[in-house]
Amino acid sequence: MAKYAKDQPAGFENAIERVAIIGAGGTVGFHIATELLKTGKHTVTALTRADSTNKLPEGVQIAHINYNDEASIVSALKGQQFLIITMSPTAPPDTHSKIVQAAAKAGIPYVMPNGYGGDIDKVKLGEETFLGPVSKANRDQIAQLGMQWITVCCGFWYDYSLAGGEVRFGFDFDKRTVTFYDDGTTKNTTSTLAQVGRAVAKVLSLKELPEDESDQSLTLSSFLNKPFYIKSFDVNQKDMFESVKRVTGTTDANWTITHESSKKRYEEGLALVKGGNMAGFAKLLYARAFYPEDPSDHLDKVQNKLLGLPEESLDDATKDAIDLVKKLQARAERMAS
Ligand SMILES: NC(=O)c1ccc[n+]([C@@H]2O[C@H](COP(=O)([O-])OP(=O)(O)OC[C@H]3O[C@@H](n4cnc5c(N)ncnc54)[C@H](OP(=O)(O)O)[C@@H]3O)[C@@H](O)[C@H]2O)c1
Repeated sequence: MAKYAKDQPAGFENAIERVAIIGAGGTVGFHIATELLKTGKHTVTALTRADSTNKLPEGVQIAHINYNDEASIVSALKGQQFLIITMSPTAPPDTHSKIVQAAAKAGIPYVMPNGYGGDIDKVKLGEETFLGPVSKANRDQIAQLGMQWITVCCGFWYDYSLAGGEVRFGFDFDKRTVTFYDDGTTKNTTSTLAQVGRAVAKVLSLKELPEDESDQSLTLSSFLNKPFYIKSFDVNQKDMFESVKRVTGTTDANWTITHESSKKRYEEGLALVKGGNMAGFAKLLYARAFYPEDPSDHLDKVQNKLLGLPEESLDDATKDAIDLVKKLQARAERMAS
């Protein structure tokens, strides 16, 4: 049954003012927390481990938690209206579930679970990259515990993936090499980290519920238990390479260009993972996303206009990516997974 603000108890605010976030000092969480703070509409509380060395954005409230002490998570979440989880993929696998259980006990109504990837409705792609069933289980647990979820489908992060080495978008900036999947013309729908941050902040800044039956405005409630879709660029590797050459002032002659079969690379990555070498994971993940017949592309579903997201410059994002290269190289745990 549709819920309206007019039917809520006295004192109902019809806005998401108190947001808790896990990973506010992380890759995407930093951008989400920063954009939420910029709106001036939210108090943002970062749930963080006491021994964390991650730098949190200025202006967030800090709540220290211990994943082995549920009461610490429940008490940090009490009174919050929305929980955003941006948890490292290298954290112990049961961490997400522990957070969700604590959120239910704290009475949190809405959760944005880990995900932040491609279209969740591309089931085969999700299964073949192993991420689909994991994120579905995360969403299902939220629903089973009586809460509602919202997830953002953004595709690969453009800046992060361009910077993240040869196994991702194919570029090695130190060696000046690029490996094209197949002929390099398969498109992916991608988003910059900043665009993901803006999109999440836009959705959380909407009215929570329509005022009444006649209220046609966009509300947070219209996004519940389904994904929303955004993009920065729908591009192939050749588009990226043209941008890289413009930004670096180089030509083909400065680069070593190779082509590899996306299917062969997927199989190689899979064999590494099966042999216990997680370095194969990024290789299989990105290769699979560039399969010409079933790429990670959701251009037809993008809701940028609905959300009022800005157009961005590909070359500016490429510059940001190049600035990220050294930072990512320093994250040995991530680059090896
Ligand atoms: N679309 C893409 O291209 C793309 C790329 C990478 C990741 N992702 C997805 O985005 C999500 C977040 O990834 P991210 O790169 O933003 O995460 P991240 O920066 O690696 O980590 C986020 C937070 O996780 C916490 N954390 C780290 N290690 C932990 C541990 N061992 N135990 C408990 N907490 C730990 C830290 O919070 P504190 O230090 O504050 O406790 C950290 O700030 C994941 O769902 C991932 O799959 C998408």
